[in-house]
Amino acid sequence: MIFLGLASNYSARDIWRHSFILGGKKDYNALESALAERYGSDLEHTSLIYSGRSAICLALKSFIESGKIKKGDHVVINGFTCYAVVEAVKKAGLEPVFADLENPLDVNGKKGDILGANIIRPDYSAETLETILEKDKKAKVFILQNSFGLPVDISKFEKVKKGHNLLLIEDLAHCAGRKYQDGREIGTVGEATCLSFGKGKAIDTITGGAVILRDKEITFPSSFDKTKLVRRKPNGDVPRASWYPVFAVIARGLSHLHLEKYWLGLLLKLRWIERSADTKLQLDTTITWWQSRLALKQLKNLKNKPLREYYLVDDRKKCLSELHSHGYYLEELWYEVPVAPSRYYKKAHFPEAKCINAKIFSEHVVNLPTWYKSKRRIKEVKEAREIIKKQLMKV
Ligand SMILES: Cc1ncc(COP(=O)(O)O)c(C=O)c1O
Repeated sequence: MIFLGLASNYSARDIWRHSFILGGKKDYNALESALAERYGSDLEHTSLIYSGRSAICLALKSFIESGKIKKGDHVVINGFTCYAVVEAVKKAGLEPVFADLENPLDVNGKKGDILGANIIRPDYSAETLETILEKDKKAKVFILQNSFGLPVDISKFEKVKKGHNLLLIEDLAHCAGRKYQDGREIGTVGEATCLSFGKGKAIDTITGGAVILRDKEITFPSSFDKTKLVRRKPNGDVPRASWYPVFAVIARGLSHLHLEKYWLGLLLKLRWIERSADTKLQLDTTITWWQSRLALKQLKNLKNKPLREYYLVDDRKKCLSELHSHGYYLEELWYEVPVAPSRYYKKAHFPEAKCINAKIFSEHVVNLPTWYKSKRRIKEVKEAREIIKKQLMKV
């Protein structure tokens, strides 16, 4: 059986470690130092924080307080993303502007040409950014996401950035540990680097995040004092965060009997787990010591490898149900709507007519995990890929 949750690849040792790991203040400090060093900054400009969305919001507020941008300015974000990013931008008092995904056929063909569906990239292009900037004089920041861990062509973006004096946030939720084509690590180019340690991310401690300000002219807002952050209670508002991998093992076991839905429903009802998209945006709270210790271990072992594979299929519902009948549970995909999850989509006010490629992409995308190591699992992923490939959208 194959799942899209990263923990599905955990060995018994990983599960044990995640569930019972203990940490101390020194682990917290060590993680902060390691992040500052890796992403080219210092401790004064680096902070751990409650979640990835809190990190993005804090970076944006830092830009405002340092006088680089002002409230009401616009932030260009990917037209295929998580509501968390929209929430972070709005909470900072700024406006998100969605950039449509890159479709090489747009140059010669018709905009959003369905025939080009399988060559749509999961990020916007530097050309699209330039087009937005020509009309939108309030756009002062852009966020690059490198969806699925596939690097964008950073040199092109750097030219646009320089030409328009823009600020860049590299959002590492999908791409921690990955490199751009020119060999630089993602997260070492922009003015701020933000990480999420949420479920399914390259560093996964269920919740958590970090912000690294890389431009010394930018400092944290005066209202933010990283020495006074409240430490998330060991099992805080996600009461059993350390037990998630155990819960997942039980869910996978129950899936043989098609009972996993009831188990997960019960855990949600008990508030022992929380849906990833419901993670809170909190600027006064940080992660626990055990999370820091786990995150540091994972940071040191990051692989330069995409986080997920993706394909665009004709009829996603049909494809997922065929995969399901073969024991492949790939429903938790990125992303089923341009701003996921569906239950927050309306709130995002996504301009579908302007972002046709993102709409097509999100309606047809399926994901495959890239993390399985055993021969048996790799063979299973190959079989799943074969099923998907028979249903690809035609180019
Ligand atoms: C692209 C992207 N950026 C940022 C985040 C924010 O992460 P968090 O849930 O830790 O706030 C997410 C969450 O899924 C995401 O998908």
